[in-house]
Amino acid sequence: MAKRIGILTSGGDCAGLNAVIRAVALRAHHAHGWTTVGIGRGTLGLLERPVDAEVLDPARLDAALARQGGTFLGSTNRGNPFAFAMPDGTAKDRSGEMLEGLATLRLDGLIGVGGDGSLAILRRLVAPAGLPFVGIPKTIDNDVDLTERAIGFSTAIAIATEALDRLQPTGASHDRIMVLEVMGRDAGHIAINAGIAGGADVVLIPEVPWRLHRVVEHVARLRAAGRTSALVVVAEAAGMSDEAPDPADDAPSHHGVGDWLARRLASATQAEARATVLGHVQRGAMPTAEDRILASALGVHAVDLLAQGKADRMVAWWNRQVTDVPLGEVVGRSRTVDPDGALVRTARALGICLGDAV
Ligand code: F6P
Repeated sequence: MAKRIGILTSGGDCAGLNAVIRAVALRAHHAHGWTTVGIGRGTLGLLERPVDAEVLDPARLDAALARQGGTFLGSTNRGNPFAFAMPDGTAKDRSGEMLEGLATLRLDGLIGVGGDGSLAILRRLVAPAGLPFVGIPKTIDNDVDLTERAIGFSTAIAIATEALDRLQPTGASHDRIMVLEVMGRDAGHIAINAGIAGGADVVLIPEVPWRLHRVVEHVARLRAAGRTSALVVVAEAAGMSDEAPDPADDAPSHHGVGDWLARRLASATQAEARATVLGHVQRGAMPTAEDRILASALGVHAVDLLAQGKADRMVAWWNRQVTDVPLGEVVGRSRTVDPDGALVRTARALGICLGDAV
């Protein structure tokens, strides 16, 4: 029997989403003779009448699509069906409306591409409908549990590394401390990976409690040894773990740590310091080859799971293999950087200061 499956991308976008949509639609069509329906703007498309959705024509999903950043379906990180933000500031449960919209599409299965938050929401949304659901992990933060890689992470590391490559020479030319604030939500994966790849002197992540005076000492040692510049990477959630920020600095508790740190380092070391907040640049780009490959492999496997009658699972990359895990074991959990893991040990071995006592 010919089947119809739906796909939507949910949460913050990242590189590799178009590649995964393409892989799903091509696999569904070529291997199973199925139709794929792309749902627009994540869960928001389900609120429109008619629902914002289109049948994806496999003939139009050429390789050029896999190279493009963003998601041609659109996405949202503001569409929580159970606590939908209304214009008057209240939160409303609109899951029933979304389910009604979903029913109009007459789907036999749904594939959701999202981070752990989006996958949890989608799983809960479709449960009453009994619609087979498979999740595909994507997030530049790489904090989805039970998968070594999420789509978009490789590209984000590449961009953050390139930023360090560009900051180093300008910092060296002007004898400055260059601070790069990277994304990652509550995890330091982007920071530690880019910091190692980009030759940072200091990497500050939320998983390793750090002290400002240790960073200052490290930079001072570099300067005493003849280095006039320094490269510092700070994860957006690294926080200001020691001294409470001076209220006069108006330092935010999350985003903005880079600016705060640059100001503090400048006053403590008498060196000039500049902060760069990389922000959404990390999300929007041509995906790396690794992200395209990952997206393709995970997309194909997600379709095959539905074909095997399997549901409530998340496809995953583990031990150099595509695999799948129960979605229930992923949602509500988050995978942060292991403070005793290989990357932290590598950073230390390279002489990178993590701002702690070790
Ligand atoms: O989860 C992806 C992410 O880019 C985080 O790294 C960041 O904290 C957040 O989304 C930014 O969200 P927004 O796009 O709403 O500014």
